[in-house]
Amino acid sequence: MKKNRKSRIKITGTGYYAPDKILNNFDLEKMVDTSDEWIITRTGIKERRIASEDQATSDLAIEAGRTTLKNAGLGVKDIDLIIVATSSPDTIFPSTACWVQKGLGAGHVPAFDISVGCTGFLYGMILAEGLILTGASKRILLIGGELLTKLTDYTDRNTCVLFGDAAGAVVLEEADDESGMLSYYWKADGKLGDLLYLPAGGTRIPATAQSVAQRLHYLQMKGNDVFKHAVKRMGEAALEALKAARLKKEDIDYFIPHQANIRIIEATGKRLKVPREKVYSNIHKYGNVSVASIPISLHELQEEGKLKKGNIILMDAFGAGFTWAAVAYRW
Ligand code: ACO
Repeated sequence: MKKNRKSRIKITGTGYYAPDKILNNFDLEKMVDTSDEWIITRTGIKERRIASEDQATSDLAIEAGRTTLKNAGLGVKDIDLIIVATSSPDTIFPSTACWVQKGLGAGHVPAFDISVGCTGFLYGMILAEGLILTGASKRILLIGGELLTKLTDYTDRNTCVLFGDAAGAVVLEEADDESGMLSYYWKADGKLGDLLYLPAGGTRIPATAQSVAQRLHYLQMKGNDVFKHAVKRMGEAALEALKAARLKKEDIDYFIPHQANIRIIEATGKRLKVPREKVYSNIHKYGNVSVASIPISLHELQEEGKLKKGNIILMDAFGAGFTWAAVAYRW
């Protein structure tokens, strides 16, 4: 847990990219035994974006990175590190961040991935804070990019209705005013890893004809168990991050939870006693875009002119691992 302290990092640019192609609930009705009504009531999702066949995660991340640098008024030469959070890398190696570095034409800046499930964007912010405040980096491009639809089994109604593709990004540097990251809380529990995982394709179960036939190269999830842990852990993370920043629930101007399920979002908002209008949600139009959901939300809030200087934002996420984290931030 990190306490409120004087030197901090701030976000100096936001942006995102989502593919044009839309897959709505009615399209899914034609693929598996489901209904628009079930999906909306159980998840809050109406439609999600799907990458084209020739796009990989780095293609989404490059677009998001470019837009974010432009929005920040920066060129690619102005950044000195690229971090990509993803659970759906282009390749096992090199890292997606290295493909992004090449695509952005970012010279030889260091670049690496972090694999933390849907919590990756917040873990990335925490990591970036350490690197910036120790002087190892000056200005970091942090991208959350996910292309889970290529890792999703479109014969499994338990998972295929949930995910979408997108990337969101921020530029991070040392704050020169009162704004920035106030506190964080981060945890993991590897004992629960197999409740949400992609079994094959790594060294545990390398690719074989059998692993393909058994559909082990698609993500698998025990949705109901994940749901219960997500509600519990997101509540814990939010309260701990607030405490570390010496803030009260009433101080929150915007609560930005990871967008996994509208019922998780609303349950966590209720636990924090945050009025519904202060709980940001865009799950209806993107589905669960994992690490991209929080940076996209930040960008949209800003674009909509809702974020005012001094606003207190609480970001909160839960994902595969399990991992969970929250960040309190003054805009
Ligand atoms: N359409 C219709 N019926 C369905 C569908 C569907 N798409 N999916 C499941 N059902 C059925 C089930 O088969 C079950 O039927 P049964 O009672 O006859 O067995 C019934 O609906 C209830 O199933 P549950 O799994 O109990 O449904 P639940 O209300 O839990 O909703 C869901 C399922 C949406 C997956 C939910 O559990 C969830 O959102 N879980 C959390 C996901 C999450 O948070 N992931 C976060 C991390 S993601 C990451 O890190 C990449």
